[in-house]
Amino acid sequence: MKNLLSMEHLTNEEINHILDRAQAFENGEASSLSRTYNVANLFFEPSTRTKTSFEMAERKVGCTVIPFDAGFSSMTKGETMYDTVKTLEMIGMDAVVIRAKEDEFYNELLEGINVAIINAGDGAGQHPSQSLLDLYTIKKEFGSFEGLNVTIAGDVSHSRVAKSNATALQRLGANVRFLCPEDWAGEFEAHHSWDGLIDTSDVIMLLRVQHERHKVNKSFSKESYHEEFGLTIEREKQMKETAIIMHPAPVNRDVEIASELVECERSRIFDQVRNGVFARMAIVETILK
Ligand code: NCD
Repeated sequence: MKNLLSMEHLTNEEINHILDRAQAFENGEASSLSRTYNVANLFFEPSTRTKTSFEMAERKVGCTVIPFDAGFSSMTKGETMYDTVKTLEMIGMDAVVIRAKEDEFYNELLEGINVAIINAGDGAGQHPSQSLLDLYTIKKEFGSFEGLNVTIAGDVSHSRVAKSNATALQRLGANVRFLCPEDWAGEFEAHHSWDGLIDTSDVIMLLRVQHERHKVNKSFSKESYHEEFGLTIEREKQMKETAIIMHPAPVNRDVEIASELVECERSRIFDQVRNGVFARMAIVETILK
């Protein structure tokens, strides 16, 4: 694996390798990288978890993390993404982790660039590192993906997390269902109510409403969205005993999920954050090796 751009490019074997390495790291195994690599994290969209988690993971596998402040970079002066990454290559970077507003920003980097590119989220496109940490979380819980009912609920068409997970989970044998308001299904066939989903799901994966990607504002109040599409306290009571709640975060409390449920027993929301460091250690090691 030279780059990590989209879950669509990964074979099941590559996915399983990363999940196994994440488990090994969680068990305390050391990185197998043979030298110190230089990595920079270029985040052109807001991030708390993904950026910090990549930095932590890079340090833990023995990389040197070179600071890069996207808001003060020369891209604010009109420099292209290609020229920016080429510049970092010449300075000595081995890999760059990039989050950008544009779908498939990486296309302009595929020729002429000789550093590894890790996609940390491209617009409404893909979010492969989130998907891999979500898969790791599900695997730790259920052992495998075969036959699991996974419901992805929320702003499906604008969510890169939904797309990456749909691709991967279906390929690994899970039965993925989508729940969203009518205009937000995009390429997916979706349910528009919780009927038949709430008590049959093994995993309920909630998504934030992606206001920053909407061209026209939907006329939902927080309350009406929560009532119709959110995981309310009443709905949680109907979930299977063994079912878990996931969310890539940031959470908008009392919109897609009742605030009281964020840290309830079946919630894995903060476990996902912890698992993310191991998954990203596995990603960085696999790419740089
Ligand atoms: C997600 C993202 O940026 O796509 N966050 C994350 O990386 N954990 C989800 C979101 O912003 O809603």
